[in-house]
Amino acid sequence: MSVMVTGGAGYLGGQLVLELLDAGEKVVVIDNLSTGFDWAVPDDAELIVGDAGDRLLLNHVMRSRSVDAVLHLAGAHSAPDMVADPTAYYLDHTIKAREIIAAAVANGVRHIVFPSSLAVYGAPENVPVKETDATSPTDPYGAYKLAVEHMLDEASLAWGLGHVTLRLGHVAGADPAGRSGEATIGATHLVKIVLQAALGRRDHIAVFGTGYDTPDGTGIRDYIHVKDAASAHLSALRHLRAGGASLRLNCSTGEGHSVLEVIDVVQRLAGRVLDVRARAPRPDDIPVLVAAVSRIRAHLDWQPQYSLLDTMLGHALAFERRLPAKAA
Ligand SMILES: NC(=O)c1ccc[n+]([C@@H]2O[C@H](COP(=O)([O-])OP(=O)(O)OC[C@H]3O[C@@H](n4cnc5c(N)ncnc54)[C@H](O)[C@@H]3O)[C@@H](O)[C@H]2O)c1
Repeated sequence: MSVMVTGGAGYLGGQLVLELLDAGEKVVVIDNLSTGFDWAVPDDAELIVGDAGDRLLLNHVMRSRSVDAVLHLAGAHSAPDMVADPTAYYLDHTIKAREIIAAAVANGVRHIVFPSSLAVYGAPENVPVKETDATSPTDPYGAYKLAVEHMLDEASLAWGLGHVTLRLGHVAGADPAGRSGEATIGATHLVKIVLQAALGRRDHIAVFGTGYDTPDGTGIRDYIHVKDAASAHLSALRHLRAGGASLRLNCSTGEGHSVLEVIDVVQRLAGRVLDVRARAPRPDDIPVLVAAVSRIRAHLDWQPQYSLLDTMLGHALAFERRLPAKAA
């Protein structure tokens, strides 16, 4: 019996493969290496370089490797690129997820774990936002994720496919043992930019929106350590294998941190004052997005262990230092 991880050569996928191997699972990765790296997949896992939307490949691997569960992470994670080229990302995130679901059903795979995002809520009316609150994504990324959530629900109703959807906060940090971390070329999210500035690979940090109704005026997000996010996937898999019901869960810490807080912690850890420049808010930017997390604590045997801001950013900085400047 094996677990299939699509996107297992990526940032979160690489950490997840490590967690699965540490737990004694047999792992097969399907990744097209569009943003991932073959070195991110440990030798103890099988890496098949291919596309998560390739139905023939999926059929073959699911049958020949006796796959009982798919952890479907394939899909690049760059919101600005998605706004610029929405149809390409719609294909990668949503249409290929349809192939995964259909192949799983056709080949007797009983469980799917899917990383969705707090982006499905858009700008929530209530903070912390609960799973039962309205979803109203303000960017294509949230919309793609929501479409897959709906497909999974419908597949559960039609064919009894068990699934857990984890609505993740912003994933940050790196493997505490230094085995993996975020190496994505051209990553555009805050933590990566601040780390690059701290290591002299970027001359300044632009902060979009400094007049929000938050304590320091900058946007607030809920961050989760990549190892905690990965272990939540493992807990979700165990839940499904134990016969647990399909679930949709926020997966983060329920603690919000502002842009300036992130910058301050990295400045302290790196011992360097960074050039921070205020910019106008971007259209559709959300001031505060923090998750209610009581549901995941009630349903899964999981709690975050590494998700203090200092710990996350410390691990991320240590990993970033070791990345060659060309890959940063
Ligand atoms: N990083 C976050 O903060 C975050 C938050 C919420 C959800 N997620 C989701 O988690 C998943 C992984 O994100 P990540 O941050 O590790 O991104 P990543 O870009 O590091 O990893 C994505 C992986 O998928 C592979 N891939 C892309 N398209 C593929 C395809 N068609 N077939 C096979 N492989 C393909 C890439 O090569 C890469 O290895 C994504 O679905 C992302 O939307 C991430």
